[in-house]
Amino acid sequence: MRRMALTLLLVLFCGGVVAENASLSISCGALGVELQLCQQGVDHWSSQTGVEVNIVSTPNSSSERFALYQQILASRSSDIDILQIDVVWPGTLAPHLIDLSAYIDKDLTRQYFKTLITNNTIDDRLVAMPWFTVAGVLYYRSDLLEKYEFNPPETWRQLTSMARHIQNAEREAGSPRMQGFVFQAKGYEGLTCNALEWIDSFGGGTLVNQRGDVTIGNPRAIAALDLAASWIGDIAPQGVLNYDEEQSRGVFQSGNAVFMRNWPYAWALGNAADSPVRGQIGVVALPRGGDQGHHSGVLGGWQLAVSKYSKHPQLAANLVQYLTSYAEQKRRATVGSYNPTIPELYRDPDVLKATPFLGTLYKSFEQAVARPSRITGDQYARVSAEFYYAVHEVLAGKKSAAAALPGLQRKLERLSRGGQW
Ligand code: GLC
Repeated sequence: MRRMALTLLLVLFCGGVVAENASLSISCGALGVELQLCQQGVDHWSSQTGVEVNIVSTPNSSSERFALYQQILASRSSDIDILQIDVVWPGTLAPHLIDLSAYIDKDLTRQYFKTLITNNTIDDRLVAMPWFTVAGVLYYRSDLLEKYEFNPPETWRQLTSMARHIQNAEREAGSPRMQGFVFQAKGYEGLTCNALEWIDSFGGGTLVNQRGDVTIGNPRAIAALDLAASWIGDIAPQGVLNYDEEQSRGVFQSGNAVFMRNWPYAWALGNAADSPVRGQIGVVALPRGGDQGHHSGVLGGWQLAVSKYSKHPQLAANLVQYLTSYAEQKRRATVGSYNPTIPELYRDPDVLKATPFLGTLYKSFEQAVARPSRITGDQYARVSAEFYYAVHEVLAGKKSAAAALPGLQRKLERLSRGGQW
């Protein structure tokens, strides 16, 4: 009887008849509690519809996940129905994704951040629904800043001197593993995000401008990278050259770093019952690049898309609609500090109580700086890889920024075909 009711519900839900025994598979990220939150959301939908859903876990590194998706999609495999895709991928993956506007009402999509819907609309096709959005932020240890009588840093130079001072004093006081600043400097997409923040905050642009011109070979970009390179072995461990988000969080959350650059998800975990730094964390916008600079934070975030090779597109679109719904995003924002993609949720008292900086840093999220993925289209992955290779070499001390960036500028100009991409 219950099963019949569920099937009926499903038919009503999806506006069509669903094959008996239909099952779906969805790829979810696994950063922090991501996988667990995805599983809970999916379980709820399954219990409502009776449809079995298989969760496929994919690599944490955005660059590795991208390579995996490209392989799966190129083979037109129906193995994954729903893909969790990065905010920088809609342009590249669009040919393999269905148009969700055929299944999801326009009145509903209007409730989401317009910039994200635009980002996910390629040639008038809505190829993905925004699931959560993020921007890079600065975490600090409020107890340590208080102890040494510092306010959170306004500029990167202030961060550098505060981090050095506190790190050295704490080491002398018996915490030999204390680090000043941890971030993501492994050669992967995360480094592109970190480095764009440094450069943009110095007024050095975002690699490729909105007209398609390559802009990286400029003195402010060089100054930003020189400063970042000086951190390695001073306020940041050598090992940071191999850190992704989770490794940075590991160091910070175990109490061994004064500052950390990361995405908002680290907040809920850092304040979890078993976290050694629970209640001792502050979050502010990333520092400015100096007198001429401004606060910056790169736009990140993930979308849900349905593969063109799925055997059950309607059902898959229905699950996407559920997972990206107001109620589900509220749950994820409250339990996991995942930034909603529906502006209304930033005014929801329960959300603000659980993650106060969603309110105080609303502007940073709203004005987050996009990577140049839209303008460079399916060349983006290559552009980003050239960028993070070059930056990694500078951070590792193999080349100065002044030697590396003009070469990168020329390489990207060749790739850009005169700005046409
Ligand atoms: C986060 C962001 C994503 C970005 C990635 C880089 O997952 O949401 O947009 O590409 O980090 O590591």
